[in-house]
Amino acid sequence: MFKELKTLFSYFKKYKWQYIVGIFALIMTDAIQLYIPILTKKGINLIEENGALINVGKISIFIAISALLIALGRFLWRFTILGVSIKIETDIRHRILDKLLKQSLNYYKENTIGEIMAKATSDTEAIRNAMGFGVVAIIDASVMMIATLIIMFVLFPSLTLATLFPLPLALLVIISFSKYIRKKFKETREVYSRITVFVQEKLSGIKVIKGLNNKNYTIKNFKNLNKEYKKASLKAVLAWALILPLIETASGLTIVLLLRKGGIMVVNGNLTIGDFIAFMGYLALIVWPILSIGYIVDAFQRGSVAIERINKILYAKEEIKEIKNSVSKNINGDIEFRDVYFKHNNSSTQTLQNINLYIKRGEHIGIFGKVGSGKSSLIELIPRIFDTQSGNIFIDKTNIKDLSLQSLRSGISVVPQESILFSDTIKNNIAFGKDYVSDNEIEEVAKASTIFNDFSFWKDGWNTIVGEKGVTISGGQKQRIAISRALLMDAPIMIFDDAFSSVDVATEEKILNNIKLLRDGKTTIFISHRVSTLKNCSKIIILDQGKIIENDSFENLINKSGLFSDIFEQQNSKNGEEDLI
Ligand SMILES: Nc1ncnc2c1ncn2[C@@H]1O[C@H](COP(=O)(O)OP(=O)(O)OP(=O)(O)O)[C@@H](O)[C@H]1O
Ligand SMILES: [Mg+2]
Repeated sequence: MFKELKTLFSYFKKYKWQYIVGIFALIMTDAIQLYIPILTKKGINLIEENGALINVGKISIFIAISALLIALGRFLWRFTILGVSIKIETDIRHRILDKLLKQSLNYYKENTIGEIMAKATSDTEAIRNAMGFGVVAIIDASVMMIATLIIMFVLFPSLTLATLFPLPLALLVIISFSKYIRKKFKETREVYSRITVFVQEKLSGIKVIKGLNNKNYTIKNFKNLNKEYKKASLKAVLAWALILPLIETASGLTIVLLLRKGGIMVVNGNLTIGDFIAFMGYLALIVWPILSIGYIVDAFQRGSVAIERINKILYAKEEIKEIKNSVSKNINGDIEFRDVYFKHNNSSTQTLQNINLYIKRGEHIGIFGKVGSGKSSLIELIPRIFDTQSGNIFIDKTNIKDLSLQSLRSGISVVPQESILFSDTIKNNIAFGKDYVSDNEIEEVAKASTIFNDFSFWKDGWNTIVGEKGVTISGGQKQRIAISRALLMDAPIMIFDDAFSSVDVATEEKILNNIKLLRDGKTTIFISHRVSTLKNCSKIIILDQGKIIENDSFENLINKSGLFSDIFEQQNSKNGEEDLI
């Protein structure tokens, strides 16, 4: 537990002034609270002695002023300490996002989005609670407990000894239970994460569930998961349910003891009524800190479990890293693969072997090959989505590992095989990643990808929201929005990974002609299963089981016997029908 809390010390340091002011206000409030029983005692003793009412009035005014100061102090510590805890929560969320954006794709294979979401939401909340109310409770409880004990022992030594002994016993119980509760709590967090993953995945795949009539199966699995969560949570609750009444019984017992022992002392004249009431006041003050130990342990346990989980994100190894003295420069678009070998983490076979390839700046090249031959993997190595196993890739003669990730990636725009749109307007989806874009620029790329004609289909034109809360758009429309987005980036290197698979051949032809003009003199790579897509390319690479088996011009390849000419024949004879290998 303490190891995890150490991480939080950096935040204590960062916000030390707010904490100092807050803690000061808290201690002041406590000090005034501790003085009130003494004032009460004086007041009662004065009444008992039939003393001057003027003095009683004075004491009442003192008590009223004290109450006002307590209110002020409470406001101050709440405002500062709870305010800081919200700032810390925000800081941690920023750090999480920052780190997540640096992680490689492999990271997302090992960590599900639902699990990450649970950490970024409810776990950060648990940290806020520990750093806010947790800190307040621990300081408040310690000050109150220690000070009250000292006062009680100094003012009423024998009465204190006779009444307080049940309380340390209650403390012992809490401490011995705390480890068990922590374990149970951790279990509930883990099952909770799995529930989040389940719901997130099933809802985003709702079409599949409905399409395959998978509802009952999904419900059954969810019920089991929910049951597991209930079981783990109930065990934690049960432990608490045992502890709390125990503490309450212990504090009740102290009152019984006080009535007995204190009552006898009053009757015998060894204690004034004022003293008796003051002692009761202190007893009330000490019971609260002991009760709150349960809360403190709970808040810090939840907080430490949460920080342990969040640290797994914050301190995870970054697979793709920049070297220390990385070079920042603008990219021209010369690409060279030298003896490149690559294997995906969990793949049993080599994904790419002995890749040697030179793409001259401004060239338009094609990559062709059967499904799973390694086309996407090959181009993913260029922006360092993955790193090579051996061999090197050079851009403008500089090893990409020596370039800063910022200059490398801003020099490359990729239209990925699966087009992803965000829940935003179509216009913002096209402009994604750019701070300022004029309408004219968006219009130009939208016309190039031919999506411009589709804008009139939607009620709000390009201001229509797509995705969860908006319209559903077709696969072909999605692809063309993704193409517009990449064209707008107009990076020195542009890659289309099977980016025309959902549009018909005639539309593809139009888009390709526009791209040819827009990308003239700029390095462009086309991956396709369709031979016709690649006809404008100056050379075509054919991949087979991760190896380059051909590197030649379109004309030469259709005249050579082999995969390319076979597919060409097949696709041509079908007269340009949608046909994939
Ligand atoms: N992230 C990954 N983790 C593990 N293996 C992967 C991963 N991505 C691809 N592979 C494997 O690497 C091989 C090459 O895949 P790749 O996606 O590069 O093929 P492709 O030529 O683009 O295929 P397609 O035409 O279907 O898009 C396949 O065997 C695939 O299963
Ligand atoms: Mg692919």
